Amino acid sequence: MKHLLSLEDWSADEMAEAIATARTIKAHPERYENCMRRRTLCMIFEKPSLRTRLSFETGATQMGGHAIYYDTSTSPLGSGKESIGDTVQTMCRYVDIIMARLFKHEDLLEMAKYATVPLINALTNFSHPGQILADLQTVEEHKGRLEGLKVAYFGDAFNNVTHSLLFGCPKMGMPITVACPEGAEYEPDPKVLAAAQAAAERTGVEVRVVHDAAEAARGADVLYTDSWMSYHIPKDQAAARIKVFTPFQVTTQLLALAAPGAVFLNCLPAIRGMEQTAEVIDGPQSVVFDEAENRMHMHKALMYLLLDAAGRLAK
Ligand code: CP
Ligand code: NVA
Repeated sequence: MKHLLSLEDWSADEMAEAIATARTIKAHPERYENCMRRRTLCMIFEKPSLRTRLSFETGATQMGGHAIYYDTSTSPLGSGKESIGDTVQTMCRYVDIIMARLFKHEDLLEMAKYATVPLINALTNFSHPGQILADLQTVEEHKGRLEGLKVAYFGDAFNNVTHSLLFGCPKMGMPITVACPEGAEYEPDPKVLAAAQAAAERTGVEVRVVHDAAEAARGADVLYTDSWMSYHIPKDQAAARIKVFTPFQVTTQLLALAAPGAVFLNCLPAIRGMEQTAEVIDGPQSVVFDEAENRMHMHKALMYLLLDAAGRLAK
C-alpha cells in the first residue's frame, strides 16, 4: 500500500508528480469533481488545525467524496481503551483513505503497519510532508521553477517543517540553509540532516546549518519560518524560547539581504512580532495565503494519486 508518511520515502519524481497534479487540479478542478464519489476520507486529529482540517475536508467534498473528522480526544483510541492496531484495522473496513495528525511519528508508523488503505501524514512532531509539497507548489508558481532556488529557513529547526524541508528541497535540487540557535533542542535531527546531505550530494547542492540569520538570508530566493511554539511545545517554555529565537526573527532588514524577488513563506499559524514581523508577513514578498490555499489543491492531488495507486478511485 502506498502511503505518504515522510518525504524521505518519496523520490523526486513522486514529489514532482504530486506538484504537477496539484497544479492541474488547481487549474481544472472540474476534471476531478467525481473521482472520490462514494469514497470516504477519515481525518484523525490529536492536535488542533485550521488549514489541514478545512483543506482536506473541502478537497474531499470538491472531488465528490465524504470526510469524517475523527477527534481522538473523544475516541476509544484517545482514552486508551483501544490500540492503534485495532483502531486502524476497523477503520479500514469502512473508509477508503486516512489522514492522521499525531504527536508521535512512531504512532503514525504503527498505523501504517495495519493500514490497508492509503495513509497520509498530516503532521507529526517529526515531520509535515504534505505541507512542504504545497509549499514547493507555491514556490514554483511564484518563481517558475524549483531547481537551483536557494532556500533559507529561520528559527526552530528541531521541527517537523524543517525536517520535511530538509528531506524535500535537496531532492528537488534546491540548496537549503537552516539558521537556528545552537543546541540539540533547536537544531535539525542529525539523522534528517545526514539524509538531506546524502540527497544533496546526489543532486549537487549544498545543505548547511548556521547560527547567524544574515548568513542564511544572503542571496536566498525563498525565506521560510515557522512558529516558535509548535503545537506540542508546553506553554511554560514560551519566555525562554522567545529569548533564544529572537535573533532569527524574519525582519525587513533580513529580507533586504535576500535575492531580488525572494518570496516569504510561513506554514501558519503565525504570530506577528514573533517568528516574523508584521511588515514581512503582510508585505509584498509574502505568499503565505497562496501557500495556505495550495494546501487544498495539494491534498486533493495526494488523495487522487494515492487512491489511484490503491485502485480505489471512483470509476
Ligand atoms: N500549516 C498547518 O498545518 O496549519 P494547521 O495547523 O492550521 O492545519
Ligand atoms: N511546527 C508547527 C507547524 C504547524 C503547522 C507545529 O508543529 O505546530
